[in-house]
Amino acid sequence: MADVERLLVVDDEGPILHALQRTFEAAGYEVTACLDPAQALTAMEQREFQVISADYMMPGMTGADFLARARAMQPATIRILITAAHDFSAAVDAINNGEIFRILSKPWNRLELLGTVRQAFDTYALREKNRQLTELVQKQNGELAELNRGLECLVQERTTNLLDGMVAVLDYRDTETQWHSRRVARFTRRIAEELGMKDEQQLDTIERGSLLHDIGKIGVRDAVLLKPGPLDASEWSEMREHPRLGWALLQRIEFLREASEIVLQHQERFDGKGYPSGLKGEQIVIGARLFAVADTYDAITSDRPYRRAAPHDAAVAEIRRVGGTQLDPTAVEAFCRVPESEWMRIRAEVEQISLLEAQWGWTPPKRIFDVVRDAAAKQRTGVREAVAAK
Ligand SMILES: [Fe+2]
Repeated sequence: MADVERLLVVDDEGPILHALQRTFEAAGYEVTACLDPAQALTAMEQREFQVISADYMMPGMTGADFLARARAMQPATIRILITAAHDFSAAVDAINNGEIFRILSKPWNRLELLGTVRQAFDTYALREKNRQLTELVQKQNGELAELNRGLECLVQERTTNLLDGMVAVLDYRDTETQWHSRRVARFTRRIAEELGMKDEQQLDTIERGSLLHDIGKIGVRDAVLLKPGPLDASEWSEMREHPRLGWALLQRIEFLREASEIVLQHQERFDGKGYPSGLKGEQIVIGARLFAVADTYDAITSDRPYRRAAPHDAAVAEIRRVGGTQLDPTAVEAFCRVPESEWMRIRAEVEQISLLEAQWGWTPPKRIFDVVRDAAAKQRTGVREAVAAK
């Protein structure tokens, strides 16, 4: 309950107003008495009242109109109408327009009057308490949601870092081309931007899916993945499982669900001759179609152990040649619109960021690979020793 219970009383007849004022003051309320509704509205501008009691028949403004305006100014206030006009339409009018708590008739019964006012203050206090509790719950819900968002960000950041490390290891294991996946991810995003994509979330999804495209190779044996010569039929079928393996791995990570479609489809070809599903044209998600162009470009323009990198123009010529068969021609066109200097800039940026990360205490990709290999070797030795000891 509020410390002071403030009541605004409005009646255009002086003796009645004073009688009401005396009655309410005697009951312990702080009373502001007004002869004129306009004056009462001014009083309301200066302070808040928990309860208002208004006469119906007043000059200039009816009690119902006054209470409707009072409601607009202080919606939480409990409003009582006291009327000598035993007029049903006045009551209806008042209830419809002003949300009146009670209607009392003149002359009033003192006990009924005081009982009604007491009830009005109690109702106000109850509603106020309810409002405060709702506000508190909403505030706490907001804080909880904020906390959840923070935790989700943290989980995303840690998962991203973990996957980034795995991708670097895979890049080294597979192609011995450092940062291949990072470069391809940035290249693919650039082609998407060239196509006019602006939605940050969509661009992020495309970049993430491209970064993780080969994560499924984690499940391909070294004997197959690193085989120097051509693969036989069963080795090929094992190799062709890597998009599905990568997709399955990412299904467990909620925020990567969408990106996992790119992982699943990154070996599909525009003409339907790719794998694992032989999807054709626009059946392939746009991210995977853009990725295929970026991947082809990076493969041609990067050094490999068995051949030197080819120049930009040679890569563009090859990409144009396979536009419409292996690659989506729209993606090829978008790629060709971007000048060589941009691709060089992205390449340099990826290299710079990766080197800086290494300097700041991150293990560089090659080193991660060595650490993982050493740890695996140690584990194998440990198991062998444990078995031998038994
Ligand atoms: Fe792949």
